[in-house]
Amino acid sequence: MLDYVSDKVQDETRQGEAFAPFANDPNQYKKRFYIESYGCQMNFADSEIVASILNKEGFGATRNVEEADLIFINTCSIREKAEQTVRKRLTEFRRLKKQKQGMLVGVLGCMAERLKAKFLEEEKLVDIVVGPDAYRSLPGLVTEAEGGQKAVNVLLSREETYADISPVRLDSNGVSAFVSIMRGCNNMCSFCVVPFTRGRERSRDAESIINECNELFEKGYKEVTLLGQNVDSYYYTVGSQESGVGSQNITFAMLLEMVANISPELRVRFSTSHPKDITDEVLHTMAKYENICNYIHLPVQSGSTRILQLMNRTYTREWYMAKIDRIREIIPGCGISSDFITGFCTETEEDHKETLSIMEYSKYDYSYMFFYSERPGTLAERRYDDDIPLEIKKRRLHEIVQVQNRLSFESNKRDIGKTFTILIEGDSKKSDQDWMGRSSEGKVFVFPKESYELKKGDYVMVKVENCTQGTLLGKIIN
Ligand code: SAH
Ligand code: SF4
Ligand code: F3S
Repeated sequence: MLDYVSDKVQDETRQGEAFAPFANDPNQYKKRFYIESYGCQMNFADSEIVASILNKEGFGATRNVEEADLIFINTCSIREKAEQTVRKRLTEFRRLKKQKQGMLVGVLGCMAERLKAKFLEEEKLVDIVVGPDAYRSLPGLVTEAEGGQKAVNVLLSREETYADISPVRLDSNGVSAFVSIMRGCNNMCSFCVVPFTRGRERSRDAESIINECNELFEKGYKEVTLLGQNVDSYYYTVGSQESGVGSQNITFAMLLEMVANISPELRVRFSTSHPKDITDEVLHTMAKYENICNYIHLPVQSGSTRILQLMNRTYTREWYMAKIDRIREIIPGCGISSDFITGFCTETEEDHKETLSIMEYSKYDYSYMFFYSERPGTLAERRYDDDIPLEIKKRRLHEIVQVQNRLSFESNKRDIGKTFTILIEGDSKKSDQDWMGRSSEGKVFVFPKESYELKKGDYVMVKVENCTQGTLLGKIIN
């Protein structure tokens, strides 16, 4: 885990989770695989695609790593710490591999893409290395590795979106699911490794997205989160692409509307929005549909225009603040969260203070906060000195965490006395006498079940009576 994160679940640091078994009959599958995922939600969504590809080839998933013939680790490169976590986990797999002859270890995802075949030299126990665009070749690579060869495919693609692959969702709560709508990123933020590990941006066929969301709803899911590194630049042309005759261009706002129209009972969320790309059209669509959640993750990274320029974020402090005003104007009460990096190259105390003040201005409900970690190959690594000492990076991070904690608490206190529609996700962590659910704004609610006949996936009105910094405590209203 990172040194500092807010008390919310941090999407980039979700710890590895294994899939539930596909079947109870151990003889149903020729081989068993275990998969563990790190990093962002896109990586978790990819693991579900990998599971689907392997499943079709006769491999069954297992939650028990000791029982696996194949171990996969879907990796993240976003910060040095993320890579260290993976390396540590690999040493643990080494021990297992010694105990079980023929067991294969595969590295998937962003770290596989970044290090490519070098992985095989650095980590001798690894048999298979596969980048994010090459998962279709996994079954063939497994066969190669079983034959005693090391197997690598890290080709990036301009087209691959896995549109036709139906992800296997066995580790989900059955209420909310993630749906990938695009891959890659064209944004070249100078600190970021993603454009190198995930390749060029491409949008997935809109029809396949709608079909997937429809199927989820039919299976009883009540919430979909549309995923991409920069969802607002979603763009897909339906129909004849060459001649343009009979073709239609689908923007993110249009896609949102299409998903929202599946059913008023299906909530729609999305992540992540780049401040430069989120349009009024998107905001108006959000305002128009009750079931599009009033929540936007709008990472600012820094409050200083000079630093934003060095980061290549393409907006200024003032431009970002105007965007916040626009959101509050079109969607009153909208939940807003952000990401921050402290101690980026050349950051002064003045720059840091501007970050603190933009937090106060935006009144974020929550934030994901990090200190700068230089990544090999990025623009920043090539152009600038990583010149802020670690203690200063950490001290500034601590300061923004303190401010965010207060802002989150204040935001929750403002909700006391108000009533919200909550989608029940399951029992609360602490007690099976309480439900846990979320409001449209993305806030976590905990409330007593009382004698109502409710189940997870139901909507219920809850009045807020009290709160902590991370949770709203309430009571069901008839
Ligand atoms: N596509 C998303 C973010 C993806 S990475 C966006 O544009 O907002 C998630 C977050 O990790 C980023 O928003 C940034 O705050 C953080 N991050 C990315 N690279 C980093 C680095 N080199 N050091 C520290 N934090 C980083
Ligand atoms: Fe990285 Fe920027 Fe792309 Fe986000 S938008 S993935 S921070 S390059
Ligand atoms: Fe990490 Fe790759 Fe996501 S670097 S944050 S897993 S896109």
